[in-house]
Amino acid sequence: MTTSLRTPICDMLGIEYPVVLAGMGGVSLSSLVAAVSNAGGLGIIGAATLDAEGLRAEIRRTRELTDKPFAVDLLAPIPDMIRPQMQVVFEQDVRIFVAGLAVPAAFIDEMHARRMKVVVMCGRVRHAQKSEAAGADVVVAQGTEAGGHTGEIGTLALVPQIVDAVKIPVLAAGGIADGRGLVAALALGAQGAVIGTRFIASPEAQAAGGYREAIVRAHEDDTVRTRCYTGKPARAIRNARTDEWEKKLDKLQPFPAQAALSAREGVMDYMGVTPHFDGERTFMPAGQSAGLVHAVKPAGEILRDIVREAEQIIDTRFVRPAEARSRMP
Ligand SMILES: Cc1cc2nc3c(=O)[nH]c(=O)nc-3n(C[C@H](O)[C@H](O)[C@H](O)COP(=O)(O)O)c2cc1C
Repeated sequence: MTTSLRTPICDMLGIEYPVVLAGMGGVSLSSLVAAVSNAGGLGIIGAATLDAEGLRAEIRRTRELTDKPFAVDLLAPIPDMIRPQMQVVFEQDVRIFVAGLAVPAAFIDEMHARRMKVVVMCGRVRHAQKSEAAGADVVVAQGTEAGGHTGEIGTLALVPQIVDAVKIPVLAAGGIADGRGLVAALALGAQGAVIGTRFIASPEAQAAGGYREAIVRAHEDDTVRTRCYTGKPARAIRNARTDEWEKKLDKLQPFPAQAALSAREGVMDYMGVTPHFDGERTFMPAGQSAGLVHAVKPAGEILRDIVREAEQIIDTRFVRPAEARSRMP
């Protein structure tokens, strides 16, 4: 028997499987986005590191590689910082927008006038309620296990509390890297999973070689939630720089000043666009699921493995009533 993993959000977003590539700034670019969308999930362009020109080029490249749906993610706490990129999102007729770090209140009316779907990343129940009240169509309940900027509440506790608190569909993020995690997310009431860390270990990800290898090598306790790179708490692979900053927390500056400092010190190129990657200093955003990542694999294969494993779990781990009756003495 084959189980269909389809949930209502698959129809809303126009995708085959409820698996979403996280909009990882600088990492989730056209190759990875198209690979995930072509395999039946939803690819999201992580546009946080792109200027307007760069975003336009990535959207065009993505459209050359896939005719399937995809989304664009931007960090939304300072509307003026993303206004030029938002104009590109509108001009290019992007259908799904994902907001990190804040509700994109300044743009929601225009997005709805254009019949776009608006997704907001949330780490607390009240963020999800605020997003729903502001007009979000979907919220992502992102647990502290997640790589990158993340809150303090664990996925297992957060997802059902957000599911209970809002009427709009909820996706789960943070710590999900395989079919077991996807089934768990669905069991918690989420309509699908947003996956970041697992997809960094793919050839399509825009990632420095040393960063990919660090994820494959990492164990469950090799990440730390630190403000030392951007000024906001972000989970990354622990290294000498994160350890040093633990001892001088009083020197930290708020977001985005700390991020500017890190850029000046040349420690933000986890994407591998310059030759300056240094595993002891460079930011390597990654979640606790890095301990589940044992090999670099093509993104489409990662997605298909997750779907296959999830279907197998649902088909084989539960005893259906007819079988249960036949086992009775
Ligand atoms: C390298 C990296 C960059 C990220 N950048 C962003 C971003 O720009 N915007 C955003 O909304 N989330 C960002 N995130 C968080 C992801 O959207 C997602 O919530 C997270 O990766 C899911 O958890 P997982 O890493 O355990 O799969 C980033 C995560 C990583 C690992």
